[in-house]
Amino acid sequence: MTDLSLTIRAETASDALAIERLHERTFGPGRYAKTAYRIREGQGHTLELSFTAHVGTLLIGSVRLTPVRIGEVKALLLGPLTVQPPFRDRGIGQVLIERALAEAKAKGHRLVVLVGDEPYYGKCGFKRVPRGRATMPGPVDPARLLVCELGEGAFEGVSGPIRPEWEGA
Ligand SMILES: CC(C)(COP(=O)(O)OP(=O)(O)OC[C@H]1O[C@@H](n2cnc3c(N)ncnc32)[C@H](O)[C@@H]1OP(=O)(O)O)[C@@H](O)C(=O)NCCC(=O)NCCS
Repeated sequence: MTDLSLTIRAETASDALAIERLHERTFGPGRYAKTAYRIREGQGHTLELSFTAHVGTLLIGSVRLTPVRIGEVKALLLGPLTVQPPFRDRGIGQVLIERALAEAKAKGHRLVVLVGDEPYYGKCGFKRVPRGRATMPGPVDPARLLVCELGEGAFEGVSGPIRPEWEGA
């Protein structure tokens, strides 16, 4: 029997093409119209905080983190998260999120936001952002704007527009 063991590692520049193909297959051309894309298209994600899942030499999953600010406070935007269809429902998505959050926390980050389904991301500690407290630069269902505190009380007193980190530099 072939040993198809899973490895999770930090994204590298050479993963770009395989991840782009994965995004194209998963989200199609509509991905460019998403509000979160407007934030990500600027300076882009941080490779050391973004992770890929591999089975052998095959890239089968990816999660990316992009530096943002909520008001004046630094945070990270999580996404896209994608797992190749044949490898779904095996916990790989959760493992990718947990690894990215652990690495972000280890590097001193305190807040992660995303646009996604609360029933899924709630398992990793994400909660709904109270309505109006943080806003994305475009239309987003407020029920899908979620935040994860990597330190106790990290979201207390934080509010404002979510924008790329470099814009506020
Ligand atoms: C979402 C996604 C990354 C999950 O990856 P995965 O490796 O299959 O996830 P896991 O194995 O960690 O978790 C699977 C569980 O989450 C559930 N789940 C998957 N997507 C869900 C969603 N959108 N809402 C609620 N639950 C969801 C599955 O039903 C499964 O439940 P079970 O454990 O009770 O069987 C994957 O389905 C995917 O790539 N989807 C298309 C892209 C996408 O929607 N990305 C998220 C938005 S950026």
